[in-house]
Amino acid sequence: MANIVWHHTTITKEDRRARNGHHSAVLWFTGLSGSGKSTLANAVSKKLFELGVQNYVLDGDNIRHGLNKDLGFSAEDRTENIRRIGEVAKLFVDSGQFVLTAFISPFERDRQLVRQLLEADEFIEIYVKCPLEECEKRDPKGLYKKARNGEIREFTGIDSPYEEPSSPELIVETHLYSLEECVNQVIAYLRHHQRIKGEK
Ligand SMILES: Nc1ncnc2c1ncn2[C@@H]1O[C@H](COP(=O)(O)OP(=O)(O)OP(=O)(O)O)[C@@H](O)[C@H]1O
Ligand SMILES: [Mg+2]
Repeated sequence: MANIVWHHTTITKEDRRARNGHHSAVLWFTGLSGSGKSTLANAVSKKLFELGVQNYVLDGDNIRHGLNKDLGFSAEDRTENIRRIGEVAKLFVDSGQFVLTAFISPFERDRQLVRQLLEADEFIEIYVKCPLEECEKRDPKGLYKKARNGEIREFTGIDSPYEEPSSPELIVETHLYSLEECVNQVIAYLRHHQRIKGEK
């Protein structure tokens, strides 16, 4: 961009990682509404916190209250929503932390764009997989009910598509495993791939 010059930081990402004693990366949770993204992201965050791993959760509704309150749910706005979150997530990675994002992020292309913002070992896509019928049965926010009787339009899974990740780093099936088991699957992945220390 004209007249905007990148200023290199004095303290680098590597310096911050070295001090923290761990890697930094995005744990990108994607899945249908009610699949368990927020529940799982917060439970993994708690576990990482207990392990002394610096981390922060970015959650859909909270971001839409502030940073992205000017955006709606059209395909265009959903894309911009994810783009901005990707840029914020990148800042967290640069700060030496893990950032856990809990957004439906229904479009493969948008998730790919975020992946491309980061280094190969900095983007961990976690598909929180749960059948639509089960999500609709859970309906923790009563949104499916509203979508079914037309009070909400363009609701993912009902009248807006959800594109399944083609090659996620991890798939967690919340209708088959307890929350605790799902948390363990994520932690095991991070240990196995040397993103955090500990027994594999
Ligand atoms: N193994 C599991 N992991 C996560 N959540 C589970 C699991 N089993 C059952 N649940 C329940 O499923 C519901 C998931 O709701 P949650 O708000 O986390 O979904 P979400 O994916 O964040 O939805 P939204 O996109 O609308 O924010 C909760 O009521 C949670 O208790
Ligand atoms: Mg949520």
